[in-house]
Amino acid sequence: MAPVYTNSNGCPIPGDPFATQRIGKHGPLLLQDFNLIDSLAHFDRERIPERVVHAKGSGAYGVFEVTDDISDICGSAFLDTVGKKTKIFTRFSTVGGESGSADSARDPRGFATKFYTEEGNLDLVYNNTPVFFIRDPSKFPHFIHTQKRNPETHLKDADMFWDYLTTNQESIHQVMILFSDRGTPASYREMNGYSGHTYKWSNKKGEWHYVQVHMISDQGVKTLNNEEAGQLAGSNPDFAQEDLFKNIAAGNNPSWTLYVQTMTQEQAKNAPFSVFDLTKVWPHADYPLRRFGKMTLNENPKNYFAEVEQAAFSPAHTVPFMEPSADPVLQSRLFSYSDTHRHRLGTNYTQIPVNCPVTGAVFNPHMRDGAMNVNGNLGAHPNYMASDKPIEFKQFSLQEEQEVWEGAACPFHWKYTDDDFKQPAALWNVLKRYPNQQEHLAHNVAVHACNARPEIQDRVVEYFSKVSTDLGDRIKKELLELSPRK
Ligand code: HEM
Repeated sequence: MAPVYTNSNGCPIPGDPFATQRIGKHGPLLLQDFNLIDSLAHFDRERIPERVVHAKGSGAYGVFEVTDDISDICGSAFLDTVGKKTKIFTRFSTVGGESGSADSARDPRGFATKFYTEEGNLDLVYNNTPVFFIRDPSKFPHFIHTQKRNPETHLKDADMFWDYLTTNQESIHQVMILFSDRGTPASYREMNGYSGHTYKWSNKKGEWHYVQVHMISDQGVKTLNNEEAGQLAGSNPDFAQEDLFKNIAAGNNPSWTLYVQTMTQEQAKNAPFSVFDLTKVWPHADYPLRRFGKMTLNENPKNYFAEVEQAAFSPAHTVPFMEPSADPVLQSRLFSYSDTHRHRLGTNYTQIPVNCPVTGAVFNPHMRDGAMNVNGNLGAHPNYMASDKPIEFKQFSLQEEQEVWEGAACPFHWKYTDDDFKQPAALWNVLKRYPNQQEHLAHNVAVHACNARPEIQDRVVEYFSKVSTDLGDRIKKELLELSPRK
C-alpha cells in the first residue's frame, strides 16, 4: 500500500499537494496555510553543520570477526573468543574538502569504525596513513586552515599550504606519504587503515602493552597517479562513494585483516623514538604484526543523511581494557570529537540510531533531558544516584602498574630536529623498490608547489633536500620547468 502524504503532524494533505491557500486567484497567501509553512520551514532547516574536517565521506555496515586469540594482550569482551562476531559501521572520508568536494583529492583518507560491542561502542577513528602532520595538538587548527581556503580569495592556496609545512618540519614524514601515490587511493576498498597513535591495551591479569593497530586491505593497495586523480575530479568526483556502494550492492564485500603491534614499557623506554610521537612508525621488523581479526563491509546504509552524515565517531568512545596513551594529539582528540558532535548533532547525539550502543545500556541517572531526547529519558528512575534504587557497577581489573607521571605544569612545544628526517629518508629508499614511485613523488610535489611564490618554492626544495638531495634536486628541476624564473 502506498504511504499517505501528510504534513508533519500526520494529518493527510487533501487533494492537490501543490495547492496553496490564496485570496482569490491572484491575491496574497494566508498565514493559516500550515501545509505550505510546514513544508518551507522544514526545508529552511535541512542543513546541519558539516564536519569541520572529513566533511566528504561514505559509509557502510559490516561485521568484525575474531580470527586469533589475543587475550594475553587485551581483555575486551568482543575479543574474548575466536569466531566471535560484532556488528560494525565504517565511514571513509577525505579531510580538507567540503561535503561536495572530489573524492580523488590528494589528502589523507579517514577510516573510522564503530564496533557495537556488548560493553558499549568502541570507535577506532583512524586514517589510511600510519603517521600525521603534527605532534603538538595546538597546531591542528592552524594546520587545517592551511589546507582549506584563503580567507581573502576563498581559493585553495599553495602559498599557505607550503608556508606552513616548510616552517613546521615535523610534518615531513606525512607529507612524503601524502605526495606519493598513496595520497590518491584508487578506492576506499583498496587502502589500509592505521591507528597512527599509540594506545594502551591490558589483559585480565592487569598487564598492559603499548599498541598500534593496522587494518590491511584484503583487496590490496591500489593508487591513482596525479593525472588520473585530476581527471576523475572532473569526470566523476564521487567515484569513491560510487565504488563502495556498487561493490557492496553487488555482494563484492570488501574486507580488511586486523593486526596489532605491541611494545612493553621497557621496550618503549629503549626505542629510538617516543611512542607518543605521532610522526613516527614502529618498524615491523622490531615490532612484528600479530593478526587478530577481520572486518567485512556487507550492507549499504538505507539513508545517507540518517546513517552516514549523522554518524559520530570519537577516540574517547572506548571499552574496558582499551585506553588512550599519553600522546598529546590523542589526548586532545579525546575532547574534540564529542565536543563537535554536541555542536553538529546536538547533546543527545548518542540517541541517533547509528550512534546508539546495541546494549541499549546507556544508563546514567543524571544524563537526561536536553534537545531531541527521544528514548524515554529513563522514565521514572530518580535523576540522581538514589540509595533505594541500586545500580550495578561492573568490576573489571585494569592495568595495575600504570605509568607514573611527575613534574610541574610546564609549556611544551615539540620542536623538530634532524631526527625527524630519518624515517622519511628510509621511506624514500623504500620507494625505489616500486616502479616510478620516486619519480611520481617528485612530480606530485612539483605540480602542486609550482603554484606557490618563488621564495616558498625554494623552501620546498630545501625541506625535501633534508630527506635526500636526490629528491630535492628532482623537485627543483621540475619546478624550474613548470614555473621558469625570470
Ligand atoms: C589535534 C588533532 C585532531 C583534532 C583536534 C581532530 C578533530 C577532528 C574533528 C573536530 C573532526 C570532525 C568530527 C565530526 O564532526 O564528527 C574530526 C574528524 C575525523 N578525524 Fe580528526 N582530529 C585530529 C587528528 C586526527 C588524527 C591524528 C586522525 C587519525 C589518526 C584523525 C582522524 C579523523 C577521522 C577519521 C575523522 C572523520 C570521522 C568520521 O568519519 O566522522 N584526526 N577530527
